[in-house]
Amino acid sequence: MTLAAVILAAGQGTRLKSSLPKVLHRLGGQPLVRHALAAAQAVTGVPPVLVVGHGAEAVRAELGEAAQYVAQSEQLGTGHAVLQAAPLLRGRCTEVLVTYGDMPLLRVETLRALVQAQHFNPGPLSLLTIDAPQLRDFGRVVRDGFGKVRAIVEAAQATPEEQTITERNAGAYCFNADWLWAHLPRLPLSPKGEYYLTDIVALAAAEGGEIGTVATADEAEVTGINTRAQLAQAEAALRARINARWMAEGVTLIDPATTYIEPAVSLGRDTVIWPNTYLQGETVVGAGCVLGPNTILRDTTLGDECQVECSVLEGAWLGRGVEVGPFAHLRQGARLEDGVHMGNFGEVKNSTLGPGVKMGHFSYIGDATIGADVNIGAGTITCNFDGARKHKTVIGAGVFIGSDTMLVAPVHLGAGARTGAGSVVTKDVPPDSLAVGVPARVIRKLKAQE
Ligand code: UD1
Ligand code: MG
Repeated sequence: MTLAAVILAAGQGTRLKSSLPKVLHRLGGQPLVRHALAAAQAVTGVPPVLVVGHGAEAVRAELGEAAQYVAQSEQLGTGHAVLQAAPLLRGRCTEVLVTYGDMPLLRVETLRALVQAQHFNPGPLSLLTIDAPQLRDFGRVVRDGFGKVRAIVEAAQATPEEQTITERNAGAYCFNADWLWAHLPRLPLSPKGEYYLTDIVALAAAEGGEIGTVATADEAEVTGINTRAQLAQAEAALRARINARWMAEGVTLIDPATTYIEPAVSLGRDTVIWPNTYLQGETVVGAGCVLGPNTILRDTTLGDECQVECSVLEGAWLGRGVEVGPFAHLRQGARLEDGVHMGNFGEVKNSTLGPGVKMGHFSYIGDATIGADVNIGAGTITCNFDGARKHKTVIGAGVFIGSDTMLVAPVHLGAGARTGAGSVVTKDVPPDSLAVGVPARVIRKLKAQE
């Protein structure tokens, strides 16, 4: 059996009232459709076929190789949309999974169950259903007296009697591929002037084909995003799902309602997260860390037992037992090795702080390499930018930098050197030497043991 996936994403999403195509609206930090793509790819193992229409160029640009694309130039309905994938897939697969790109919370396990159901179904398709009378706009699953599925009737076309059917069409299907390609061109035109994929169910039933069903009980899974209100609900549902998973894995969330963990983040045991904390992108947090309150970690890696309070870390790497904050900003390429202490109102960019470095207050360190156990006095600045180019600062192990020192890069301070408070260092300072003044001059040699 070879399985392919087709995801429909050509619709405009009029009700979002947006210049952005619906499927590019973000959920959990990702474009909506990425969730559908990831779930389908987890089941099939290959990039799904994405049917694009409205905003096709923007969708392609955003998603790149995560999908194979086919265009639906006119939105003539979900059945017509699937048909656009036929030239690409016909003869290349035995089963086709079809989902809608605006159902971001559909689970991989549910899709697997659907594929499994079709695997054992002698008939041409299986579909996902939910018993949910509150989902008023969903298609009704019509069964006969023997419980066999006969048709799906769209809400707008349902008779008063059909309206009362509580079993609804969730919008995920697994088809026998050859049967699908043969029957899509036979779909009737709906009263709305569209070719509904759902009408294929009646075609199958009329031929006597067995229609498999898999039911989900999780309404969040089947929620399609049509409005901004639904987008916010989906965000809350996704957050609750992710937070429940990490609590089950041994992470303490003081207040899950205000803890925002994106899907790709990973967390170690016994880490404690205080409110208003955002863990985004490819962030990795070790065990026994304490994060927040009011903290953002974006594409950042933390070793075990780190503490980060009221701070923003972006593209940073922290070793073990590092303390950051309150009110620190780590930017791209900040690397704080084991036991670094970085206190309030500091910024570090594209720099390594060696093990045990102390940087307590009000400093900017950019484009620098700082050795072990250096003490960075309050208000120290690496003057790394001359207006045209960036320059490096290199500081050896055990250096003591006096408060308010300006390090005018490029500059090198040898191991064990010291600078006096308020000095402006424009020339290299040899190891074990004291430099003071503006511009700084070496006034004496220090004993190495001092
Ligand atoms: C659809 C189902 C309905 C089901 C519901 C679940 C049909 C006819 N109806 O209704 O039974 O209960 O989903 O949410 O399928 N799309 C295209 N091209 C088109 C039309 C739609 O790519 O020409 C895409 C849309 O972008 C969207 C998806 O197909 O991602 C579903 O379309 P939508 O209009 O939202 O269908 P519903 O009315 O919600
Ligand atoms: Mg919909």
